[in-house]
Amino acid sequence: MSCARRRPRACRAARENGRVSAAEVRAVATVDDVLRRDLLSCWTDVTNAGGAVGFVPPVSRDDLAPALDWLLEGVHSGRDVLALLTVDDATAGFAVLVGSLSPLRRHWATVLRVQVHPTFQGRGLGRVLMTGVHDIARTRGLEFLRLTARGGTGVDGFYRRLGYQEHGRLPGAVRVAAGDDRDEIVLACPL
Ligand SMILES: CC(C)(COP(=O)(O)OP(=O)(O)OC[C@H]1O[C@@H](n2cnc3c(N)ncnc32)[C@H](O)[C@@H]1OP(=O)(O)O)[C@@H](O)C(=O)NCCC(=O)NCCS
Repeated sequence: MSCARRRPRACRAARENGRVSAAEVRAVATVDDVLRRDLLSCWTDVTNAGGAVGFVPPVSRDDLAPALDWLLEGVHSGRDVLALLTVDDATAGFAVLVGSLSPLRRHWATVLRVQVHPTFQGRGLGRVLMTGVHDIARTRGLEFLRLTARGGTGVDGFYRRLGYQEHGRLPGAVRVAAGDDRDEIVLACPL
């Protein structure tokens, strides 16, 4: 199965408590201070709610700022792209498509920091986000995407539903705490 294809429209209408809201994913090449603050808040809230996006709780915005700024350097250089999920124009999640410096690896990319703010989780927006990521990747001529998931979280199930397949594990690569090592699960999806 190939990666989930986007619905024909750029936006998706999500109905919640009878109210219709517009969810959209767009490629962002320049992140201003306001958006940077939103991304930092999102990543902090997601991590403190138990999300597996590179850190373990508790974290502060200051803890995550260097990691975010490193990601944004790649975006601003033009090599990488931020996929921004908004609901009614408010930041609701994001992911980053990271390309390779190697000329032998320009036909695929790695997806990092996939997240939906806890307020919006469980409503189908993670699927909307990844479908948007796949669309952006296809537009850039990429042929497949690779990502990793933290073992023991079950989150690989989210990606498998979207057409990703496992291509191995690095046993114990993620030390979430002393005595709690998790596998890093390598997943990929043709576009
Ligand atoms: C993982 C995440 C992006 C999913 O977003 P979401 O909006 O909650 O997911 P959706 O509502 O779109 O779910 C889509 C499908 O995936 C499933 N799913 C969602 N999260 C899952 C999880 N953690 N484990 C297994 N399946 C999951 C849903 O049940 C749904 O299945 P269905 O299509 O059969 O109904 C979101 O929960 C999140 O940000 N988690 C914290 C950060 C994180 O761990 N990111 C992963 C980094 S590798």
